[in-house]
Amino acid sequence: MAQPYLLMAPGPVQMSPEVLRILAEPMIHHRTPEFETILAKVLRQLPEVFETRQPVFIQCATGSGGMESSIVNALSPGDQVLCIVAGKFGERWREICQVYGMEIVSYDVPWGQSAEPAVVKKLLNENPRVRAVLIQACETSTGIFNPIKEIAAFVHDRPETIMMVDAITACGVTELPMDDWHLDVVVAASQKAFMLPTGLAFLSFSPKAWKFAQLAKCPRLYWDLRTEFENNKKSATHFSSSVPLIKGLSHVLDEVLKSSSTDRARACEALARGIRAGGAALGFKLYAQHPSPTVTALVVPEGLEGEKIQRHIEAKYRVTIVGGQEKLKNKIIRIGSMGAIGPNDVTRTMQDLARTVIDLGGKADVDQVTAKTRAAMNAPASADPRSGHT
Ligand SMILES: Cc1ncc(COP(=O)(O)O)c(C=O)c1O
Repeated sequence: MAQPYLLMAPGPVQMSPEVLRILAEPMIHHRTPEFETILAKVLRQLPEVFETRQPVFIQCATGSGGMESSIVNALSPGDQVLCIVAGKFGERWREICQVYGMEIVSYDVPWGQSAEPAVVKKLLNENPRVRAVLIQACETSTGIFNPIKEIAAFVHDRPETIMMVDAITACGVTELPMDDWHLDVVVAASQKAFMLPTGLAFLSFSPKAWKFAQLAKCPRLYWDLRTEFENNKKSATHFSSSVPLIKGLSHVLDEVLKSSSTDRARACEALARGIRAGGAALGFKLYAQHPSPTVTALVVPEGLEGEKIQRHIEAKYRVTIVGGQEKLKNKIIRIGSMGAIGPNDVTRTMQDLARTVIDLGGKADVDQVTAKTRAAMNAPASADPRSGHT
């Protein structure tokens, strides 16, 4: 077998050998006491990761399915929504809302920048009918982190507006305490900090969002969280469960919950510091104004092309990173810092990036990149990993 890839993409991410072993176990049926025990356990553990007293639902879907589910469960056609669009995934919120006939107010944030709380506040004051503010914690396409805590604080003061957060590239490894920060809807997905294959979406509603759910008129059957809630009370899912993924999740949650959310955030932030420093030593500037700890977008220096770098490092060094999307194609590369990885994987990635630059005709000093990457990961945290905004 060929040497496996080291997955340094911002999802799907590297999985642990133990998860791979669990995924290969013989199949068991989901309507069995054995599986019900596992499901009951993960349903108890997930709220600990979300830092909420509310239930967290598991839906068999990719992250976008979780986003669509959250919309149809919380809102009605004709509702006014404020879509904060700072990149590709902000566009996804807007597309879903368009499909379901919502009236959209858009805040288009220049790519590479984070939303400004003052602008959000102004838009809410100008549009008092807004029922939901839709935002990404981390906008994976540009590598920025949004000021979630700051925005949620004033959305909380509006009884008729909920804060809906796509935390797909944040939940689990950045501090995003759902209850403390008054986040009304949080969506996550299995292929990011949950270190599993793609296929499970996780979502949770605050009591305020649950009230919205009772009024929501969007049609829904597969996504209906009310039936899911009734089934979860009996340690079951309404439809068939993805048994292998949920068994993998059970193991991951045991591991993840051994450390505090602060420690997990600090560990992720340290890896990101290594990527940023290694990138800087290679002449790659940071693209994001407020970089997320979970994914680093690096601007490709003049004379090199992002796509060639991505293809070369994968083909020759077996390291998977990703390029830029749409207008950022060829201009940036993105390296993730989630998954079953540690400082050695980041060091290897940055060394192989340096070698790739040399292979493609550029200049790089592999030893210097190595030293800078390691030193940055060992340095004490300079930023509060809570918001990415310090
Ligand atoms: C922030 C964010 N939102 C949504 C998605 C969409 O998730 P999926 O591709 O699992 O549907 C992604 C995927 O990378 C993401 O990073």
